[in-house]
Amino acid sequence: MHDKVSLLRQQFQADFSKIAQAKDVEEIKVKYLGKKGPIQELMQDLRTVSADERPLMGKLINDLKVEITHLCEKGLEGLGAAEEAKRIEEEKIDVTLPGRTQFVGKKHPVNLLLDEVLSIFKGMGFSVHYGPDIDSDYYNYEGLNFPKDHPARDMQDTFYITPDMLLRSHTSNTQLRIMEAHKPPLRVVMPGTVYRNEDISARSHVFFHQVEGMYIDKHVSFADLFATMHEFWSKLFKTDVVTRFRPSYFPFVEPGLEVDIKCTTCGGSGCRLCKHTGWLEVVGAGMIHPEVLKNGGIDPEVYSGFAWGFGMERLALLLYGITDIRAFTQNDLKLLQQF
Ligand code: DAH
Repeated sequence: MHDKVSLLRQQFQADFSKIAQAKDVEEIKVKYLGKKGPIQELMQDLRTVSADERPLMGKLINDLKVEITHLCEKGLEGLGAAEEAKRIEEEKIDVTLPGRTQFVGKKHPVNLLLDEVLSIFKGMGFSVHYGPDIDSDYYNYEGLNFPKDHPARDMQDTFYITPDMLLRSHTSNTQLRIMEAHKPPLRVVMPGTVYRNEDISARSHVFFHQVEGMYIDKHVSFADLFATMHEFWSKLFKTDVVTRFRPSYFPFVEPGLEVDIKCTTCGGSGCRLCKHTGWLEVVGAGMIHPEVLKNGGIDPEVYSGFAWGFGMERLALLLYGITDIRAFTQNDLKLLQQF
């Protein structure tokens, strides 16, 4: 019995010498003092010891128990304090470090302008529809009155994917889709990206954005087109603009025209912005060709309509006073952060 107690003490001392963390101490404590631990076992064994030896042995075992308890408590105190000190050291915040800047994303200037454009048209009763960027020759050309060998196709250098599929060269591709799917009255704007096989320069790019618009109902006339254009451009430029209509040609409208507005910067006397003409060319438009209405399943004897299409980047150049269209795709933060 005596030897067993000494052996246990040695074992404990060996274990105790290895502890590194407060939780090791807890483990040792349970291991030696727990209900199924060796100290309890020795206590059970006391019953087998003779009555005169029992008090002495009892005291020996008890002394060891007290010793283990005491050492564990001291160990816990020491290690706990050390760990706490280490944690505090590690969590220390260096208040002299400069803060980290959070960069907040922003909308692209062209999208900001598009939001404004759409909001004005919505306010005038137009709904917004999106057509496909990849489309068939029919919706982009043939159905809009551009037969296969029509020279007007050369106005828009097209990216063909197959002989019949292409990247739309204008948002006019969405017109027939809307006519096919809905009955008049139709009052729709169709924004989107368009693609052209052009040399990239300060004035043109291989892709840009357009906003197409269309109004079809009974008795829609040229006067409605004029009024709609005047109203929209006045709202966008936040002034009562002066409009001018010049005859032009697009196969899907008859008559076709281009709308200019009197330069809002110089008031028409001529400046850099209007290239000294006094006028800003802003949009192509016209009365929808009867053939196109027919292709869309709408009877041109009953209904008439007008349509328009303009480029967002050109407009953004005008409104923001930027001179190079490439600025919109160069991701120059110095420029983008100004919006
Ligand atoms: N699609 C023409 C272009 O990209 C613009 C245009 C002109 C659209 C007249 C129209 C329109 O709807 O009536 O150059």
